[in-house]
Amino acid sequence: MTGTALKLGEIQFNYAKRYFEEFLASRPKFKEHLYKVKTPALLMDLEGVKARFVQIRYHLPEVNIYYAVKANDDVGVLSALAQVGSGFEVASSEELRRVLSLGVSPERIISSNPVKPEEFIDYAYREGVNRFAVDSFAEVEKIAKVAPRARVYVRITVPNEGSDWPLSRKFGVDLETALEILEFSKNKGLVPIGLTFHVGSQCNNLRNWFIAIKRSAQLWEEARRRGIKLLVLNMGGGIPVRYLQEALRVEDIAYYVRGLLRKYFPNPPYELQMEPGRGVVGDQGIMVVSVIGKAQRGDENWLYIDTGVFNGLAEALGGIRYPTYLERKGELKEWVIGGVSCDSMDTVAKNVYLPEPEVGDRLFLLSAGAYTTVYASEFNGFPKPEVICL
Ligand SMILES: Cc1ncc(COP(=O)(O)O)c(C=O)c1O
Repeated sequence: MTGTALKLGEIQFNYAKRYFEEFLASRPKFKEHLYKVKTPALLMDLEGVKARFVQIRYHLPEVNIYYAVKANDDVGVLSALAQVGSGFEVASSEELRRVLSLGVSPERIISSNPVKPEEFIDYAYREGVNRFAVDSFAEVEKIAKVAPRARVYVRITVPNEGSDWPLSRKFGVDLETALEILEFSKNKGLVPIGLTFHVGSQCNNLRNWFIAIKRSAQLWEEARRRGIKLLVLNMGGGIPVRYLQEALRVEDIAYYVRGLLRKYFPNPPYELQMEPGRGVVGDQGIMVVSVIGKAQRGDENWLYIDTGVFNGLAEALGGIRYPTYLERKGELKEWVIGGVSCDSMDTVAKNVYLPEPEVGDRLFLLSAGAYTTVYASEFNGFPKPEVICL
C-alpha cells in the first residue's frame, strides 16, 4: 500500500473503531450479543430508535411524524415507535397489517406510495386508513373506484441532488400537472387535501428542502386561487444518518426547514407531516457477519462474508458504505468484501481497511438499521439476517 492509502486506511479504520466504541459505550447490552448471535444478524437498539424519534419530534414540534415502515418493518421496531406515539407511513397490505396488529389507530396511518395495488387501497380504506398520495390520473381513478371518499395528496417533483438514494425520477409531477390532478380528484368525488415531496433518501443537501418548500408554497397558492383549499403539507423523508461520512444533523435540518416554513407559509398548513425512515432507524443497528473465506485475486485482497447484497446489503450497490470494524490489532490491509452468493455482482465494498482477519472472525457493519433486512432475499439459499431487538 502507498503512504497515502495507508493514511486513508488509518483514518477510515479509526473512524469505524471510534464509532463502534461510542455506540457500545451507551449500549452495554450489545456487548454480550456481538459474539454470541448466529450470523448474519441485525442487532437493533430499540431505546435508540425511540430516542431518535423523540429527538426528531423535539426539533420539529409542529410536525406530525409518520415513520416510513419500509426502512425497517420489524415488529419490535414498529412496536417501540408506536409506544412513543409515532404515526406510520405504509405502502403495502403487509406493512399495514403489521402496524394495525400493534393496535395503532388508522388515523395515525398514511400511505405515500404514489402508485399502489388496488387490493391494498381497498384493504386500507376498509380498515379506516383514508389518506393516500397520488401523482397520476390513473391512480386517482383507481382510488375513486375502491375508496370513494378518500383524501388524497399529490406528489410533486423536487431536486434530489446530493441525496445518496434519489427518488425523483420515478415519482412526482410538475406543478401544473399537480393542479390538474387535484382538480381531477375533486371531480371524481375524492377530497384533495394537500401535497407531498421527497428530497431523496440520505439527503445531505439543504437546498433540496429549500426548493421543495418554495415549490410547495407556489402550488398551495395556485390551488387556493382555483378554489381548492389545501390543508396538509407532507415533507417526506430524507433525514440522513452517518455512514463512512458524517451527515447533516437533525437539529440543523429542523432549524432550516422551520425557517423556510415561516417564510413561505406565513399561514401555517393545518397539518405538517414528515415521514422519515432512515433517519429514525439507520444508525440504531449493527449488522454482525462472519468471515467465511479469504483469497488473493491479482493484486486485490478479498474477504468473503456470510451475507451480501441479495441478503440485506442491497444499498451497497447504490454506494452506501457501512463503517466496518473488526476487533483485531495489526497492520491494516486494503480489502474487497465479497458477498456470500455465487454472483459477481454480490460485492459489498471495495477499499475497506482492516487488520488481517481469520476465517470465522466477526465483522461489525455500523449504521445498518435501515434498508437492509427489508431488502433481503434468500437468493442462492442463504438466509436473511435475523433481526434481534435489544
Ligand atoms: C414515499 C416515501 N416516504 C418516505 C420514505 C422514507 O425516506 P427516508 O428513509 O429517506 O427517510 C420513502 C423512501 O423511499 C418514500 O418512498
